[in-house]
Amino acid sequence: MKYALIGCGRVSPSHVNAAVNNGFEIAAVCDIRDGNIDEMFARSVMPAEEAAKVRRFVDYREMVREVRPELVSIALPSGLHAEAALFVINEGVNVIIEKPIAMSMADADAIVEAADRTGVVVSACHQNRFNKAVQEMRTALEKGRFGRLSHGAVTVRWSRDRSYYEQADWRGKWASDGGALMNQCIHGIDLLRWMCGDELVRVCGATRRAFHDYIQAEDAGLAVLEFANGTIATVEGTVNVAQVDLEEHLSLFGEKGFVKLGGVSANDIDSWHFTDAPEEAKDGFHEITRNVYGNGHASLFKDVAGAIAEGRAPYVDARAGRRALETVLAIYQSSFTGQPVTLPLGDVSSKDFEGFFDR
Ligand SMILES: NC(=O)c1ccc[n+]([C@@H]2O[C@H](COP(=O)([O-])OP(=O)(O)OC[C@H]3O[C@@H](n4cnc5c(N)ncnc54)[C@H](O)[C@@H]3O)[C@@H](O)[C@H]2O)c1
Repeated sequence: MKYALIGCGRVSPSHVNAAVNNGFEIAAVCDIRDGNIDEMFARSVMPAEEAAKVRRFVDYREMVREVRPELVSIALPSGLHAEAALFVINEGVNVIIEKPIAMSMADADAIVEAADRTGVVVSACHQNRFNKAVQEMRTALEKGRFGRLSHGAVTVRWSRDRSYYEQADWRGKWASDGGALMNQCIHGIDLLRWMCGDELVRVCGATRRAFHDYIQAEDAGLAVLEFANGTIATVEGTVNVAQVDLEEHLSLFGEKGFVKLGGVSANDIDSWHFTDAPEEAKDGFHEITRNVYGNGHASLFKDVAGAIAEGRAPYVDARAGRRALETVLAIYQSSFTGQPVTLPLGDVSSKDFEGFFDR
């Protein structure tokens, strides 16, 4: 698989490592800052002599047209995802887009449309779907072991301080990032919506910028979600925990069982109980991870390679990325208007909320 990477910042070693571990050829990388490419390779599993042979570009358009990779992954600042993704897709190249796939519903719709029109594989990088604990929950759900669902919940309680936001000027801004829900909590929101049946009908949200007055967007957000199948769910996402990435929990309660996932990014099974096998013991399962990104990038890249080879849809497709974005934007909209929001969401963009906490 001839692979190329666009954007060589903080998350990029997870991309290159996923590509290397899947046996892809790292054909080219692109960043506007050459030093970031050096740093990315230094933090990756690639031997220095191999890394030295990789072609480097400043302009991703030039890279895609010259190198003609089979697969590109995009790890640019969030506000640049849609433009780059649309370019890559329209060049007929398969693509993995970091989350959120776009900052507006119009751009997300354009990505879905381009994926359908061109037939290239487009995957949203919600790698936590591949966490072992998440896969256990999903398998139980798909087997019908929960019975009818009552409700679900996700909590993402992490810590981001001034130094994190000062690392890059796109962070915490409405146009280029959003806040705790759009950046840190969106994986949990993706999992929750996926587990609860995807068809979201109503959202009631409240967001605050409590402590981080040097960013534009929220540092804490709460929401109640209502699904077409009658399931309800809550979201709590924050970066306001003092100094510590405390936890990411995901719970699902059904008529015939419940599962509570925990750990720092839904990598653990804290509680597991089903009436069809009350003695089944999965509690205490723990997947070792090096950081809050987890181990899922390698699995997601492997799935995308499989999708390309087999001509099938990827496990996490563009529509999944669109749904996660839509959920966050609906929470923003509800918080902004003080009213519940009924889906489908119209043409909402994160830019619509500029100035919200400065009014
Ligand atoms: N899936 C995950 O778990 C996960 C984790 C962290 C970040 N992310 C997402 O990944 C994306 C990148 O985040 P990050 O923390 O690595 O950001 P970052 O700022 O550390 O890295 C972005 C890189 O893109 C480069 N860049 C900017 N504009 C460019 C352009 N026009 N062309 C080429 N390169 C350009 C920058 O120089 C920088 O090296 C964000 O969208 C973020 O939400 C996802």
